[in-house]
Amino acid sequence: MSELSEAPAVDQGTTATLPAAKLPPEPRIPKVIQGIGFSVARRKLVAKMARRYGKVFTLNVPVFGRSVIVADPQVARQLFTASSDDVGNIQPNLSRILGPGSVFALDGSEHRRRRRLLAPPFHGKSMAKYEKIIEEETLRETANWVEGEEFPTLEPMMRITLNAILRAVFGADGEELDALRRLLPPWVVVGSRVVSLPMPSRTYGRYTPWGRLASARREYDRIVNKLIDDAKADPNFDDRTDVLTLLMRSTYEDGSGMSRADLGDELLTLLAAGHETTASTLAWAFERLRRHPGVLSAVAEEADTDGNELRQATILEVQRSRPVIEFAGRHVYASALELGEWVIPKGFSVIVSISVLHDDPDAFEHPERFDPQRFVGAKPSASWVPFGGGTRRCVGAAFANMEMDVVLRTVLRHFTVETTSAPGEKFHFRGVAYTPKDGGRIVVRRRVCAEDAQ
Ligand code: HEM
Repeated sequence: MSELSEAPAVDQGTTATLPAAKLPPEPRIPKVIQGIGFSVARRKLVAKMARRYGKVFTLNVPVFGRSVIVADPQVARQLFTASSDDVGNIQPNLSRILGPGSVFALDGSEHRRRRRLLAPPFHGKSMAKYEKIIEEETLRETANWVEGEEFPTLEPMMRITLNAILRAVFGADGEELDALRRLLPPWVVVGSRVVSLPMPSRTYGRYTPWGRLASARREYDRIVNKLIDDAKADPNFDDRTDVLTLLMRSTYEDGSGMSRADLGDELLTLLAAGHETTASTLAWAFERLRRHPGVLSAVAEEADTDGNELRQATILEVQRSRPVIEFAGRHVYASALELGEWVIPKGFSVIVSISVLHDDPDAFEHPERFDPQRFVGAKPSASWVPFGGGTRRCVGAAFANMEMDVVLRTVLRHFTVETTSAPGEKFHFRGVAYTPKDGGRIVVRRRVCAEDAQ
């Protein structure tokens, strides 16, 4: 265990006596080696450290500095439910790319106010109206799938989830949505690569990643301003149910609404956060299913019925065994944050390791096995956290779950997926999400459905 100080700390503002910092164990590895290990093989490094030092330990992490890593479900829950005045979003975070009006940038009361506005369009009961969009997009994308030839599912899944979130956010299709469809995918790729690099004070021209991001942002602002103006001028504005108009109509407690700049940043947040994560999980679902013939035939059979218990359990198990986001982090604002038996000083990052929690044999028997049955008739425990938790838990969790359910059902109703005995695909880090290294490759045969045969 490493102690920052033995003497009680004093909060300058209140002169109250604070508990002395008490940090969890820290590996005796030079800082630079910890940093390199975290950059090139973070999943392996964190898992190894947790085995050696226990489920809560201290690590020197590039960009985030000295951080406490948490792989204990009770401590993770305590962190997630800590007062938002004591902990905020990890610093730096995705708002460097998405802008200061993004929910990722907000903490404390600002964050609470924004979440109240953002939550209703993504609440479970609003999901039914999006199902049709997802089914249409899946049918459109799979219409040209070639039978008998292996192909990666990641790119098709990216197109389905991007189109789905664009239509859910902006409503009707049109020229502007086509422009966003072209603009967003390369932007997300470049943004993911640079998000954890130090931000330069200028962009250094259009051939650098920052220059490309700045020019994509100008183009995005032009398109979204036009969509906002069109929505305002729409005679059916009051009846529209897309996320943009829901956000334009809603107000904070003081009656004010979101500014245009905040609206632009927040819509970008939903578009960016809402498609790569879901597409990557779907690609993993195909990667897992074709290597587990028993599960595949059972979910395929279920897809022809109205039931979805096994499909839901399969989605939970894919997210457990192949989480696409590696960690959920917080920044300590409290002078001293008590977490389990530890006391973490102000300014530290605390990082919940989602993959180590999901691979813990104390929480999931034989975690190395892909076994959806563990979730049939059972709710996930506190150790299942692919969407993070507490006050910052993913806003789009219900949307993502519904989307994955409808995409899998639609694909399985129209195609048989061939099985393989090939080894599982490895993890590939794209900068924010982990995807299957070969893109979740599958081979399909089109099923002759009763309606197709007519
Ligand atoms: C399988 C798909 C998805 C996964 C695995 C995922 C995962 C996550 C995780 C781990 C966080 C951080 C939570 C925390 O810090 O505790 C997060 C936050 C967030 N996600 Fe998702 N997400 C997914 C889909 C979506 C979708 C579809 C949307 C939008 C429609 C979305 C919007 C957001 C937003 C806005 C936040 C920030 C919340 C805040 O800071 O208050 N995500 N997501």
